[in-house]
Amino acid sequence: MAGAKNSALKLMAAAVLAPGCHTLRNVPRIADVTLMAELLERMGARVTRGADEPDVVTIEVPDVMVPEAPYDLVEKMRASIVVLGPLLARFGEARVSVPGGDDFGHRPIDMHLRALEELGATFTTSHGVIEGRAERLLGTRILLEYPSVGATENLLMAAVTAKGTTVIDNAAREPEIEDLAAFLVGMGADVSGAGGSTITIEGVERLHPVEHTVVPDRIEAATYLAAVGLAGGSIAIEGARADHMKMLLDKLGAMGLRVDDGGDRLWVTAPERPGRLTSVDVATLPYPGVATDYKPLLVALLSVADGVGILTENVFAGRFRYIPELVRMGADIRVEGHHAVVRGVEALSGAPVRAPDIRAGAALVVAGLAAEGETLVADAHHVARGYQDLVGNLARLGADVALVPGVGGA
Ligand code: EPU
Repeated sequence: MAGAKNSALKLMAAAVLAPGCHTLRNVPRIADVTLMAELLERMGARVTRGADEPDVVTIEVPDVMVPEAPYDLVEKMRASIVVLGPLLARFGEARVSVPGGDDFGHRPIDMHLRALEELGATFTTSHGVIEGRAERLLGTRILLEYPSVGATENLLMAAVTAKGTTVIDNAAREPEIEDLAAFLVGMGADVSGAGGSTITIEGVERLHPVEHTVVPDRIEAATYLAAVGLAGGSIAIEGARADHMKMLLDKLGAMGLRVDDGGDRLWVTAPERPGRLTSVDVATLPYPGVATDYKPLLVALLSVADGVGILTENVFAGRFRYIPELVRMGADIRVEGHHAVVRGVEALSGAPVRAPDIRAGAALVVAGLAAEGETLVADAHHVARGYQDLVGNLARLGADVALVPGVGGA
């Protein structure tokens, strides 16, 4: 498994907190990491990928930086917003373009800003740019109204060098938050409780560079689980962590997919043909619930399972744009509010479709494995934002799949 996109991007941003040379291992070779590297370089850092070890990234953080995330990069990658906390902590100022809406609809950052204000930062927004200032951040107790991943991360990174104690209540509990906390502790921060709902941070004066290995990508692992559920067969997913995917594995088990935890790998086996997976109902929730990022994969699985499954989206209300694409492939899905009612069909039928975002794009690719005939996924560049060689890996597993240069950005 490659390292998790949603951890690597935050760790790269966190490196800004300490001048010197940081080393990150198991960094996925994906477009979003390249964008984050470009953002750090525009701010004055030097980011290098190992020539012999391409999964190793070194980040040289200078003493003086331009504390700014410009629109051309924020627009391409919303995750750029996570530089806000580290920049405020390190330089007492930050200018970050306001991210626009995206394929999930409006994605506000109000919680990030409110939480940072409670630490003493002030913000003004004009001409599409948020300008933040903070003389010295001061630790305090902060209750997040929702366990937002990004808000928890920004707050955590801002608090590590704040004066005094910060307590984050109702913090996000994702494995990537735990990974970020471990990275910060490696830098000399005093953080406890990450992975739980209450995180306590004792501010320290100074941090130092660190060497760290990025946690494996649970969403990527789930993509290969779904591929087996759709195409049949049996594979081992090296490095995948069952303990980070418990709720999903329970659901897949209930559908009839056999997943065995081999410690440092997952073994996954589809039911014997002509066995078919059984439909289940699923609701997405913050971790440890079933992640919203798994949803397109689950909808693809349900679309050929036996029975009717209702999938309820509780995290991003607008995250259903790929459903008309699956319907083009013969799926029987009705969307009602934030529920998708998926009536399993015998087989999908290959068709030209369009990837609306990273995870949905991957789901359309694996759905194509179960479809009769050819599926052509346009806008495949979305997939490359978050997956290191999905197509190559599937082809090595025996799938008949290839990148077609020139088709919608592939
Ligand atoms: N929200 C607010 N205000 C805020 C922040 C969030 O209303 O200030 C809302 C969002 O609109 C959403 C919910 O809270 O309805 C959850 O958002 P959260 O902040 O938890 O998500 P995020 O940090 O924006 C990360 C991942 C997403 C993943 C979500 C949920 C990264 C870069 N992104 O987004 O991953 O779906 O957590 O787990 O870490 C992806 O990888 O393709 C992806 C979209």
